[in-house]
Amino acid sequence: MFMQHVRTALAALMLGALAMGAQARGSADDAGRQQNCSNVSRATCTLAHSLGRGVNLGNMLEAPREGDWGVKLEPEYIDIAAKHFRTVRLPVRWSNHASPGADATIDEAFARRVQWAVDALLARGVYVILNVHHYSQISGNGLHNHEFRVDPDVVDTRFINIWKQIAERYKSHPQRLVFELLNEPNGKLDGEPWNVLAAKALAEVRKTNPDRAVMIGPTYWNNVRDLPKLKLPADRNLIVAVHTYDPFDFTHQGVTWRPEPMPTGKTCCNATQKRSMSDTLEKARRWNAQHGIPVHLGEFGAHSAGDMESRVAWARTMRDEAEKRGIGWAWWEFASDFSGVWSPETRGWVEPIRRALLD
Ligand code: BGC
Repeated sequence: MFMQHVRTALAALMLGALAMGAQARGSADDAGRQQNCSNVSRATCTLAHSLGRGVNLGNMLEAPREGDWGVKLEPEYIDIAAKHFRTVRLPVRWSNHASPGADATIDEAFARRVQWAVDALLARGVYVILNVHHYSQISGNGLHNHEFRVDPDVVDTRFINIWKQIAERYKSHPQRLVFELLNEPNGKLDGEPWNVLAAKALAEVRKTNPDRAVMIGPTYWNNVRDLPKLKLPADRNLIVAVHTYDPFDFTHQGVTWRPEPMPTGKTCCNATQKRSMSDTLEKARRWNAQHGIPVHLGEFGAHSAGDMESRVAWARTMRDEAEKRGIGWAWWEFASDFSGVWSPETRGWVEPIRRALLD
């Protein structure tokens, strides 16, 4: 009995310490908003609400080769991201580091590089979202420089086999590691093809990770517009990932990798723009209310070609719109040129963006 009390007291102390740590990093559920969790387990519901404020370590491990897009994953980034955010999303381009045949054997050196990051983040107490990012061929998109093409007949099987290997490698990792099947399915995956493929990949993951939370997002680049087309397998540990860059002509102004770059000079946020921003998250909230599966905002960001005042207003508005609906979020991105919150040049915060996200 005494030991029971000691254990209870210790557990209470640990929970208290965890809660204090969580408070320091802020969370989307601070406001006490809850999503409908009627179709997921209690553990996945709690996890979805604990993801809180997050950031993407973007343009690093999902470049065709790490460094191709100007940033490499430095140990310091892991420390800073984990200290200030509760969740880190780690985009990874496995497909370009795996053999071209159907078995898609992942290059061990690359797998170790990714695992170094995952383990370091988990050791620092954050939630980690590990995904398959930029497998361009699977959506029928053109390839990036330094990306290789594979036989079209093996593209989907490779995807399943990539997940088989990731799932095996991480099967004993803490439940704070969340898998996300595919970033922004689009093009030829739109609608039903993605429902079929996602179910197959999930079945493969479930062989080794029966209870881990897995994120699956709608097609059309994880756009809420395609939520009605998303048909999920029966599974009590799913979270739905959506992305938003509305209004697109503001967030993607001046992006040079678009086939036709959009003009710069767009400001934000007037009443119409604000309405489109809140409408997006309201659609996500309504979908959650109907389906009982929590939603996570895995990417949002405003390209650095926009003026800072507008980008700050946009970031703050989106953050508030998500948090008031109990939706955890991850900013796109940490230290690169889309909308980094940390500057590799000054080795310091991009303070106005940091404030908009975290203060
Ligand atoms: C892509 C990035 C892009 C961002 C905004 C992400 O999903 O991976 O390359 O900068 O969306 O468009």
